[in-house]
Amino acid sequence: MTKIAIICGSNRKQATTAQLCRHLEQVLVNKGCQVIFLDLYSLPLPLYSPDVECDDANLAIFKNGLNEADGIILATPEYHGAPSGVLKNALDYTGFAQFDGKVVLSASSTGGPVGVSSLQQLQTIVRNVHGINCPEWISIGGENRIFTPEGEPANQKTRERVLHTLQYFVKMVETFSSIKQ
Ligand SMILES: Cc1cc2nc3c(=O)[nH]c(=O)nc-3n(C[C@H](O)[C@H](O)[C@H](O)COP(=O)(O)O)c2cc1C
Repeated sequence: MTKIAIICGSNRKQATTAQLCRHLEQVLVNKGCQVIFLDLYSLPLPLYSPDVECDDANLAIFKNGLNEADGIILATPEYHGAPSGVLKNALDYTGFAQFDGKVVLSASSTGGPVGVSSLQQLQTIVRNVHGINCPEWISIGGENRIFTPEGEPANQKTRERVLHTLQYFVKMVETFSSIKQ
């Protein structure tokens, strides 16, 4: 079974990023994937320092989840045209061991219509840890961040976009993880 880790990079209780991630999880489960959900709001990590050998329990869960995954989704609110601090902090704990040769999908939630700037920066990070950037990405913004009580994006085009992107992403993950073995 294909294992996908979703890192939810918001530090806010009612985060739209988390709502998007839960929808991504549901679609992936419906497609037969196993999802490892790593929510940095409920799984906070200490501030990274190169001076400290960190034995934090949450960090162990976080790293084990990524180690196990065949593919990874990075999701962030767009803060000042960039990924959130909590996501960047979490990624500073990781490197080739977690990302090398794995397909990575980036997703963002923004106040404005689209969050391309944070997505580009996430893709730069992915390249530097030798992950394989999925050319498709997901950006929800403004009014497209409304979700139904069932947890689906209210906007039909957004639902279609998510479905198309996840189909593309899972196919890439399956292809590259079979090459890696
Ligand atoms: C510090 C900060 C900076 C932000 N910068 C931007 C920005 O550059 N562009 C934008 O469209 N929205 C910006 N926003 C709005 C957030 O991207 C938006 O509210 C997002 O949906 C929050 O995600 P969340 O619901 O997961 O917390 C900013 C919000 C905060 C708190």
